[in-house]
Amino acid sequence: MTAPLRVALLGCGTVGSAVLRLIEEQSGDLAARIGRSIEVVGIAVRRPAHHPDVPQHLLTTDSAALVRRDDVDLVVEVIGGIEPARSLLYAAFEAGKSVVSANKALLAEDGPGLHAAAAKAGVDLYYEAAVAGAIPLLRPLRESLAGDQLRRVVGIVNGTTNYILSRMAETGAGFAEALAEATELGYAEADPTADVDGFDAAAKAAILASLAFHTPVSSADVHREGISAVSATDVARAAEIGCTVKLLAICERVPNGDADSVAVRVHPAMIPTSHPLASVGGAFNAVFVEAEAAGQLMFYGQGAGGEPTASAVLGDLVAVARNRVAGASGQGPTGYADLAVRPMAETPTRYHVSLDVADKPGVLAAVAQEFARHEVSISTVRQTGRGDAATLVIVTHSAPDAALSATISALRDMPAVRGVTSVLRVEGLS
Ligand code: HSE
Repeated sequence: MTAPLRVALLGCGTVGSAVLRLIEEQSGDLAARIGRSIEVVGIAVRRPAHHPDVPQHLLTTDSAALVRRDDVDLVVEVIGGIEPARSLLYAAFEAGKSVVSANKALLAEDGPGLHAAAAKAGVDLYYEAAVAGAIPLLRPLRESLAGDQLRRVVGIVNGTTNYILSRMAETGAGFAEALAEATELGYAEADPTADVDGFDAAAKAAILASLAFHTPVSSADVHREGISAVSATDVARAAEIGCTVKLLAICERVPNGDADSVAVRVHPAMIPTSHPLASVGGAFNAVFVEAEAAGQLMFYGQGAGGEPTASAVLGDLVAVARNRVAGASGQGPTGYADLAVRPMAETPTRYHVSLDVADKPGVLAAVAQEFARHEVSISTVRQTGRGDAATLVIVTHSAPDAALSATISALRDMPAVRGVTSVLRVEGLS
């Protein structure tokens, strides 16, 4: 009988323990699907005493030795973070092992280097679980859509912030109140910075943009704004114009003759309630893809959690195991297009602006003049109010982001403007 493929598991937290359990529970099906059985031969953890349910003879604290062991064929990394994961992956490639990783931060920081090392060693690096948990997304981008030209990838890729924004819309609560509820219910971590400030979504955006546009994009290339400044007023204003507020990861190809570029950004934005992403509620994730030939595609599902993430890890494990059985390695992403990354200041966006103003002749003209002075074209203006006070709600056409933000600064300085009460970018409006 053919010997099993031997797996080293790096990390045994929520995801790692779910991976271990699913490998055990589905051993018969996995063997049938791969053509060889799978056997976990070592599990690297920092504190073995914290893992009483795991077969103790498999545990080791020496992860560096584990990835180099001759009796290990494949490595599954679910530690997260940059080090020691990065060194362990390079060591695994040098030792000729294929790797499945769920590590978004590492892939977003050092994707090209890791892929080059895997390619040099003739082994695989798969990381479906790194973006949007259970949702099959990276392999569709990398393989199924490899014959198409992608225009945009727009995603809700952080469940914590989507839960908070959904609750703000449902209850009228402010950000702090909704965050407190999310923390109490376990949707937000004790230190919510990575989610709330958009770091998690930015890493995922970098990975998505790299695959979608065949161009190396790292976390540092991604313009990032979180949701802590989103107010109950922003959410209410969005509802008034038939929109909802979402934290979006937006990856787009910006046409410019022979010198197209890519723009990659994470920020809160208003989207029309008719947009498919608007109905993605709670902690769910979804990614909306626009391709030249395929048209519009939507991927939806659970973006976090032990079992959903383990599902993606096991899918990758089957893929790399099949390649190993076939004596081959899969095609990694290509960075051949090498498009420039466009700075946020030059990226075309649209703004929604809400102003408290004096209601008297000439105010609207003066406000409009500021937009004109910055070469920002106005799409719609709505005025409400009574007495000498009024609210102006303005939605612009598309303009370079720097022109829009300069317009907002100028409006704040205008005597007739008593307050700029809401500013948010708008996406998906026709
Ligand atoms: N913390 C992430 C989220 C899941 O809230 O969606 C892991 O990337």
